[in-house]
Amino acid sequence: MNVFKGKYLYALMVAISLIYIIYVTYTNLLYDPQAADFLSHKTNLKRPIPVPAWANVMHIHVIAACLAMVAGALNFSSTLLRKYRLFHRINGYLYVLCVFIVVVTSGYMAPYTTGGKINSIPFNLVNILWFGMTITALVQIKRKQVNKHWKWMVRSYAFCFTNMFIHLISFVLHDGFGIPYTLSYTIGVYGAILLNIIGAELVIRFIYKIPLAPIMAAKT
Ligand code: HEM
Repeated sequence: MNVFKGKYLYALMVAISLIYIIYVTYTNLLYDPQAADFLSHKTNLKRPIPVPAWANVMHIHVIAACLAMVAGALNFSSTLLRKYRLFHRINGYLYVLCVFIVVVTSGYMAPYTTGGKINSIPFNLVNILWFGMTITALVQIKRKQVNKHWKWMVRSYAFCFTNMFIHLISFVLHDGFGIPYTLSYTIGVYGAILLNIIGAELVIRFIYKIPLAPIMAAKT
């Protein structure tokens, strides 16, 4: 893949992320802050949801998730990396902090997940996997393994699209094909995890195959 195509796809990813951030913050923080619509689909819960606390945690989750999306997207810019190395570093730590907050808040919400255990288990596995991949990326750059750092960051960043894929898949299945909401949501959860993993490997394999070491070396 040449540099032009890489830049074009990067711009597309930034555009999709921005549109999604606007949508997710508007619907969850302004339009339906108590998530009445989302929570109305939860049936057969083993314990009642403490809605005010759940909603507060969900707001923190959404804000941290959106910040992670922005911070991650900015750090994939090779121009920013070349010109503002310190920014890349500070922003990288902000990304790690945001991932940590998303994972902790997700851990709180997981026991109340739509569909119950069948979805709370993959959510908790993703929590461990996502944080693990992010820390691996950090460890690799501490070891000056630039290309490995970049690959692990791609794998980590893919999980920022979890919620978008869940809602996209469940919307198509539920609203498009009339499949019951909980089943659509469950397929959405598993489908999103698969798409994140496969998408990241495709990006690593086919997009941005530019060696990063020279870019890093340029300013050291
Ligand atoms: C980074 C992008 C993400 C965004 C923008 C985001 C956003 C949201 C939002 C808005 C909700 C409220 C319910 C809904 O409308 O879906 C939610 C719920 C939830 N999120 Fe995230 N999320 C993200 C990533 C993640 C990740 C990576 C995990 C880890 C597994 C996660 C775990 C959860 C859990 C467990 C719930 C509760 C689901 C339920 O009650 O059924 N989220 N998220």
